[in-house]
Amino acid sequence: MSPLFERLGVRYPLFQGGMAWVAEAHLVAAVSEAGGLGIIGAGHAPASYVQAQIQAVKARTDRPFGVNVMLLSPFVEEVIDVVVAEHVAVVTTGAGDPARYLSRLQQAGAIVLPVVPSVALAKRMARAGVDGVIAEGMESGGHIGSMTTMALVPQVVDAVDLPVIAAGGIADGRGLAAALMLGASGVQMGTRFLSASETQIHAHYKQAVVKAKDVDTLVTGKYVGHAARVLKNPMSRNYLKLEKSLALSGATDLSAVEALGNGSLRKAVQDGDEQTGSFMAGQISGLVHQVEPAAAIIADVMTGAQALLQGSPMAEQVTPR
Ligand SMILES: Cc1cc2nc3c(=O)[nH]c(=O)nc-3n(C[C@H](O)[C@H](O)[C@H](O)COP(=O)(O)O)c2cc1C
Repeated sequence: MSPLFERLGVRYPLFQGGMAWVAEAHLVAAVSEAGGLGIIGAGHAPASYVQAQIQAVKARTDRPFGVNVMLLSPFVEEVIDVVVAEHVAVVTTGAGDPARYLSRLQQAGAIVLPVVPSVALAKRMARAGVDGVIAEGMESGGHIGSMTTMALVPQVVDAVDLPVIAAGGIADGRGLAAALMLGASGVQMGTRFLSASETQIHAHYKQAVVKAKDVDTLVTGKYVGHAARVLKNPMSRNYLKLEKSLALSGATDLSAVEALGNGSLRKAVQDGDEQTGSFMAGQISGLVHQVEPAAAIIADVMTGAQALLQGSPMAEQVTPR
């Protein structure tokens, strides 16, 4: 197992990605209990919510877990205060550069791992002194960059002398084995955990992921500057239509399309509403066939990778510690 995972004290090199609205205490604790690293999604929630989630995870498990901090959140400063006060073991960051919070987080004992969509950001983060990076390809559900996981991960591995976690399009033992072959130390999965029994999202959302085929996602928000991969449904098709018409007309007032997107992940998670909800999910949805406990998902990924890597130099990396 790579030194990063030894340091983390987790059994398996497998993260459950922080997901706004989705990754809360039930899922996070179940993943950490099963030997992965569960990560709370702070999203744009107030610090009081994040603190309550941290305490709820601590009440359910003694294992390490993380918090994903969205750097664009209006509550980012307070969320960092909470994460520091609660001595959270791992902090992953989305939407930007966490450099200005780095020394405070590390002094509080946190391992800091920003999500990076490119080699350039990975290098900048390495210079800032992060503990590793999560290289996330555009196959992922949620907000994405433009590189694919297959192309991004080995280039980031070559560019930085840090542990690299691969994310995007990984949902089984083949994905984990392939990521290790590309030089990653471990993987982060989001989409497959959408279908975990413990995940507190509307049944329509889970069923939509389970039913989705390989080509059932699309990317919204490119024109407004925050591309996100979501399942095809009336909401995402309408959004894309409006966005395309604005782009073609050269409009600079983007308020109509922004208004359509506002709160749409919450509507998917809480209401399961196909007309107004953005069901964020990745291209690997087609490989997710059933709702099952997080522990079963982790066992499936790990046994799959162990069988494939038997006798290879990577075998040790998937041996439980
Ligand atoms: C519903 C959903 C919400 C997400 N929210 C966040 C988020 O708030 N912050 C973040 O850094 N990544 C977020 N992600 C990305 C995941 O943490 C993870 O990196 C990604 O899902 C991995 O790719 P996969 O979906 O192909 O497994 C989200 C993904 C999904 C599916």
